[in-house]
Amino acid sequence: MTQASSNSSLDFLLQRLAIHQPSAEQAIYLPWPGLKHISLTIKRDDLLHPIISGNKWRKLQHSLGVAMQQNINHLVSFGGGFSNHLHALGYCCHQLNIKCTAIIRGDYSANPSPMLLDLIKWQTDIQYVNKITYQQRDEPDYLSELQSKYPNTLIIPEGGSNHLALQGVAEIVTELNNEYDYIIAPVASGGTLAGLIAATRDTPIKILGIAALKGQGYLEELVQELLPQSAQHWSINHDYHFGGYAKSSTELQDFCTDFYQQTRIEIEPIYSGKLVYAVKNLIKQSYFSEGSRLLVLHTGGLQGRRLNN
Ligand SMILES: Cc1ncc(COP(=O)(O)O)c(C=O)c1O
Repeated sequence: MTQASSNSSLDFLLQRLAIHQPSAEQAIYLPWPGLKHISLTIKRDDLLHPIISGNKWRKLQHSLGVAMQQNINHLVSFGGGFSNHLHALGYCCHQLNIKCTAIIRGDYSANPSPMLLDLIKWQTDIQYVNKITYQQRDEPDYLSELQSKYPNTLIIPEGGSNHLALQGVAEIVTELNNEYDYIIAPVASGGTLAGLIAATRDTPIKILGIAALKGQGYLEELVQELLPQSAQHWSINHDYHFGGYAKSSTELQDFCTDFYQQTRIEIEPIYSGKLVYAVKNLIKQSYFSEGSRLLVLHTGGLQGRRLNN
């Protein structure tokens, strides 16, 4: 297991990448049904950095710190053609002068997404692979093949969700200024939820994940595999994925637009839009008992809503 990064390498990263940490806790007052009996706050991790926003920074910081500390000069990771994780990683590596290889599911070479165009601009080495190869991304044989192909390299899993990610996410909890009954966050590769669960194990806070994709059972397994110890104070709601990853609807898009007009907080339909939409509906259905204090984690990633031209 890779050791945690030192405080000095983290301080260096915070300064070098100009990260605005801690992020604000912003109270939300809206005329939503049921909201007058609930306190709703958004943790503005979307404002940590314009590019390395939200859970990207939280999940990557310790991997970057370890790379700095151990003079690792190459990071490799995986994702789709619109991946927020690869976008943040490519930018960090460019800023830190570290080589980055992005292994992409599918061949976008004829029509790169805006995310891939940014990676090209940041000199990321892009490797397009087919679905069969991509499916091997967590298999030990494939990973050791990659490791021998690329010596002195740290391989980071899809979504940045490794054990180092959990430490970074835990800082969301340690930096809180107020008390909460629930922390609510979107779920895809599981690292964010696992980090929140591990960090609140000895507290009365409950963790609620909102599935951003179709994956009942599968998402719970992903989270469980990442947890250092089993825990009971969490669950994932699967009612708000809108048909699957990156699937949306006019209703959801309109909801994101209205929410922005009412609060000036930008949300997008892939993660934060589904999250806030779910919270609004769960409040309306009296899922939370009266007086509950909810903290909704804005995980950033606003670049992901850019469409191909
Ligand atoms: C903006 C955003 N929010 C939430 C998530 C889901 O987090 P996790 O993959 O840790 O479950 C992702 C994907 O990593 C993301 O890009």
